[in-house]
Amino acid sequence: MDLQLKGKTALVLASSSGLGKAIAHELADEGANVMLTSRSENKLKAAKEEIEKTAKGSVSYTLLDQTEYESIAKAVKRTRETFGPISILINNSGGPTAGKFESFKDEDWQQAFELTLLSYVRVIRMVLPDLKENNGRILNNTSTSTKEPIDGLTLSNVFRTGILGLSKTLAQELAADNILVNTIGPGRIQTERVEELDQITANNKGQTSEEIKDANLSTIPMGRYGEPEEFAKVATFLVSGANTYMTGQNILVDGGKIKAI
Ligand SMILES: NC(=O)c1ccc[n+]([C@@H]2O[C@H](COP(=O)([O-])OP(=O)(O)OC[C@H]3O[C@@H](n4cnc5c(N)ncnc54)[C@H](OP(=O)(O)O)[C@@H]3O)[C@@H](O)[C@H]2O)c1
Repeated sequence: MDLQLKGKTALVLASSSGLGKAIAHELADEGANVMLTSRSENKLKAAKEEIEKTAKGSVSYTLLDQTEYESIAKAVKRTRETFGPISILINNSGGPTAGKFESFKDEDWQQAFELTLLSYVRVIRMVLPDLKENNGRILNNTSTSTKEPIDGLTLSNVFRTGILGLSKTLAQELAADNILVNTIGPGRIQTERVEELDQITANNKGQTSEEIKDANLSTIPMGRYGEPEEFAKVATFLVSGANTYMTGQNILVDGGKIKAI
């Protein structure tokens, strides 16, 4: 299958590590020119070097704090200047703080809104003129919490479903411009974020992170956490030229964890 990604410009948010980096890597391996973004220059530099070992497309990076409007605007401008108009937008972000409802104040809700939902809205608005000219693709990373709320992740549970509503709305509004908009929800994919969450749960329950991981594994029919590369391959198809008719969908990559139909 020809994914038709050669020479396409892809802006991948939150891509210095974890899922964002894995998607950027897969896209670059397929010949896309990829802009990496995050707050940490050291991590971005290391990610660029790693990806370049196998990439067929070019790789660059730019600093971006997704909670700041001006920072997003600068990153979009730099992407256009480096590689030309953007065809592919991967929206992704750091995860919001874990916790139950009663642990959060207004400021926590505001911060989580700005990081996980408003940042997606802002970057889509800025990139849209390019996408309209290029049969663009938008992929919004969320979580399985869009199908089933996750215990102790109140902020994620609320804002991820907001992203789902946003994606479905955009899929309707932008179909006439040949822009396909989908969401992708990781189940438990082995990244720093997942290790951190397992450790938080372990601390809260007075158990070891290995015990928490074993308990999590027992809820996954495939009996293992996913690898970032497995997740990235699905993401890459969704934003590729090979996907010509799938839009407004919420695809979970979760080893069968979510049983809801
Ligand atoms: N892994 C999973 O199984 C899983 C499951 C469900 C949901 N998710 C969600 O998927 C997203 C990615 O997860 P992950 O596992 O890849 O996490 P990760 O390994 O912790 O990576 C998070 C990325 O976000 C960047 N980032 C954080 N805050 C940022 C900000 N304010 N501005 C710009 N970049 C920022 C980090 O880079 P810097 O630190 O360099 O800024 C890093 O590149 C998260 O929202 C997570 O909650 C993941």
